[in-house]
Amino acid sequence: MGLFKRFVSQTRKPEGFLGRIMINGMNSGHAKLAGWGMSHLEGISPESIAELGCGGGGNAKALLKRFEKAKLSALDYSELSVEKTRENNKEFIAEGRCTVLQGNVAELPFEDKSFDLATAFETVYFWPGPQKSFAEVYRVMKPGGIFLICNESDGTDEEGLRFEKVIDGMKCYTEEQLISALTAAGFSKVTASHHPSKPWITVLAEK
Ligand SMILES: C[S@@+](CC[C@H](N)C(=O)[O-])C[C@H]1O[C@@H](n2cnc3c(N)ncnc32)[C@H](O)[C@@H]1O
Repeated sequence: MGLFKRFVSQTRKPEGFLGRIMINGMNSGHAKLAGWGMSHLEGISPESIAELGCGGGGNAKALLKRFEKAKLSALDYSELSVEKTRENNKEFIAEGRCTVLQGNVAELPFEDKSFDLATAFETVYFWPGPQKSFAEVYRVMKPGGIFLICNESDGTDEEGLRFEKVIDGMKCYTEEQLISALTAAGFSKVTASHHPSKPWITVLAEK
């Protein structure tokens, strides 16, 4: 496998030396996208948040700053991501507002109806299903809870489709595919927004 493929494949599950380099770049590399995604969360004040596929933990930190009364559980199946998220959120962990768990979104280690808000930035491309994984998110959401998905590829852009070919197991979903899988998983009121000048997409789904 070429170095480029080995490196970009670290987005799927950061591991080892290359994973460490990738994860160091994720927080800064995804900050603008995540900020745009979070701008769709106006008018809510969640008390409990699940940040799924948390990577380096930058988005967990931004959510904890944005929603000052919330407690957040961050989850990722990569040991490195868990380590980095803990390192980046030391203060919030010490305050008792943040916990970080290693686990797979396909089998979430949470009770039913636990969260007001669940977020997934740049990660659903890799989730099993995705309907199966979305059904797991649905299970752990409280009634009325919001699930936010934010991707830099809306499944139609050249760059996203190029990465899809290089990274095994990656799938860039279109708006229609996401809405259909979320609806089949049980969510209602599913809406999508596209960035005016980039192929970025944010989808909000209510339980
Ligand atoms: C491209 S990174 C994005 C990280 C972070 N959300 C961000 O925006 O910077 C994708 C992350 O999702 C995690 N991930 C992918 N599939 C997962 C799964 N099935 N369960 C838990 N984590 C998963 C990977 O380990 C990786 O840390």
